[in-house]
Amino acid sequence: MSGAGAAPLGRQQACGLLIDGVTKSFEGRKLLDAVSMRIAPGESVALLGESGTGKSTLLNLIAGLEPVDAGRILIGDDDVCAMSARAAAELRGRRIGFVFQAFHLLPYLSAERNVAVPLLLSGAEPGQALAAARELLDQVGLSDRAAAMPRQLSGGEQQRVALARALVHRPALVLADEPTGNLDPATAAVVLRLISDRVRASGATLLMVTHSEQAAAIADRRWRLDAGGLHEA
Ligand SMILES: Nc1ncnc2c1ncn2[C@@H]1O[C@H](COP(=O)(O)OP(=O)(O)O)[C@@H](O)[C@H]1O
Ligand SMILES: [Mg+2]
Repeated sequence: MSGAGAAPLGRQQACGLLIDGVTKSFEGRKLLDAVSMRIAPGESVALLGESGTGKSTLLNLIAGLEPVDAGRILIGDDDVCAMSARAAAELRGRRIGFVFQAFHLLPYLSAERNVAVPLLLSGAEPGQALAAARELLDQVGLSDRAAAMPRQLSGGEQQRVALARALVHRPALVLADEPTGNLDPATAAVVLRLISDRVRASGATLLMVTHSEQAAAIADRRWRLDAGGLHEA
């Protein structure tokens, strides 16, 4: 993330993540039962586990998109579970970058406008936000596709736009949910290298859910979520 002048938000202090005794049930079924995990600031962790064990749910809890039933989740010093929905949204916009398996680009916005969205939502001046978006698109190798609409982009290009959008506000914590799940191995390799390079360059903390050995290889450590809970693999 060079060119500090272009981005309206400063580089953030790396922050650790603490999941402490988190419990979550859906419709009476206990999905997460007092699970705990600690990730040090700047560390990259791959989260493995069978489908349906609650990995996506855990990312949603960390991002404050769902309430926990019990426990606490600290992002740096901030307890997501003790916040109002509004404060959680503010924290998300300021400190978290989320990369989804299915990209989730806004179909009616160009690539550069999609990337600019997090900055616009946090009140950045539009010209500055677009300049920062173009810089990020350049870094993911898509400077010539800035004006393209999502439907005009390949899966790998869409995931690179989604990655640029997740990183444009320089989040201290990057949450990625099977970010290469819809990509062929060669395109996945490009996207993984980008995630790894950008996260390391910005000193961000990364928690990436994946089924892929190729993806887990970019992490410093591996954790697994199964019926016995969360444990280091
Ligand atoms: N909002 C919800 N309401 C009811 N059940 C849910 C909800 N979100 C997730 N679940 C259920 O929780 C289980 C785990 O889902 P998920 O976290 O997506 O698992 P994973 O990402 O590990 O495959 C699934 O059985 C899913 O149907
Ligand atoms: Mg999932």
